[in-house]
Amino acid sequence: MLNEESRFSKALKSIARDQELKAYFQNTKELFPIFIKGAKRFVAGETRTEGIERVINLYNKGYQVSLEFIGENTTSEEECRLAKNEFKELIKDLGNNQLKATVSFDLSHIGMMISDEVAFTNLEELAKEAQKQNIQLMISMEESQKTDKILSLYKRISKSFSNVGITLQVHLKRSFIDLNDLLKTSGRIRLVKGAYQESEGIYIPRSEELNKRYIEFVSMCIDNNHPLSVATHDENILMDLKAKGFLYSPNVEVEMLDGVRPDLLRSLKEDNIQAKVYVTYGSEWYLYLVHRIAEYPPNIYTFISDIIEQNTDREKIHIK
Ligand code: FDA
Repeated sequence: MLNEESRFSKALKSIARDQELKAYFQNTKELFPIFIKGAKRFVAGETRTEGIERVINLYNKGYQVSLEFIGENTTSEEECRLAKNEFKELIKDLGNNQLKATVSFDLSHIGMMISDEVAFTNLEELAKEAQKQNIQLMISMEESQKTDKILSLYKRISKSFSNVGITLQVHLKRSFIDLNDLLKTSGRIRLVKGAYQESEGIYIPRSEELNKRYIEFVSMCIDNNHPLSVATHDENILMDLKAKGFLYSPNVEVEMLDGVRPDLLRSLKEDNIQAKVYVTYGSEWYLYLVHRIAEYPPNIYTFISDIIEQNTDREKIHIK
């Protein structure tokens, strides 16, 4: 990233955390419809029906799909209960439609901000329903202050449910030790570089060093024949892993965010690599959108063009 882009990216990541600004965007009736139009490249829509429609559309094209009802840092018990219920209905709807999707979520969306017990009870209820419906769950990874709690809740649930997986951020220095530990569990590991702005010293910024480490982490999972999701849009990393033959294992899938590098994911799918698209829906799309622009600032141009132009067909858009 250029210097200006990097400053822009850091600034966006901090405004993403600004609750007042978020409420302002979402509650201003002139701004909301304009912004949601630009957000639609990355978000299926506001409702579960729109999310499932997008899943079906991708299935018909031969992709596997993860689906998230967007939200995080929920602080009231009632909102956590509503979020858990929404995920449960989503799991049932996917199961009833014979869609073997993965349901992805933040533990802070379903109770971790209140207590570990609230989060665990909700997680367990979702895991049971998911097991019944033959659906996989995937826990996302949040800011580093929450890493210990998330890993500990994951390890606890994974003792009883192998259909729950965990996301690990390769950019955190601690993650090498965490990965060795996670390899002892049975759930899928999703490797991501890391989306959050962290303090100096505890993380490795985007660099060749980080890319090498990503490849090393993938190798460790492959050596252990561990179910793995390679969640990156980094073409160089993916080509390197493909050349090593790592992406062809039945245990390995490549997963990308909906609307980001669809051209690259399609070419991997055409090469018989399992390709998965991460679809999101919900009214809390603001934070998600800001993250997508922060991690790749040229998306601001795409966002503005999407607002102005009529065509937002994600498949036709080649970002890069
Ligand atoms: P990197 O950021 O280095 O980008 C490499 C190249 O990919 C860029 O040069 C550009 O060409 C392209 N690219 C990347 N992002 C783009 C974008 N938004 N728009 C257009 N092009 C883009 N993070 C986290 O902290 N916790 C989590 O739980 C998750 N979960 C998650 C699930 C899945 C399925 C994915 C794909 C990603 C996440 N992430 C995440 C986000 C992740 O940490 C990371 O921020 C993004 O994937 C971007 O990093 P890349 O690996 O793509 O590399």
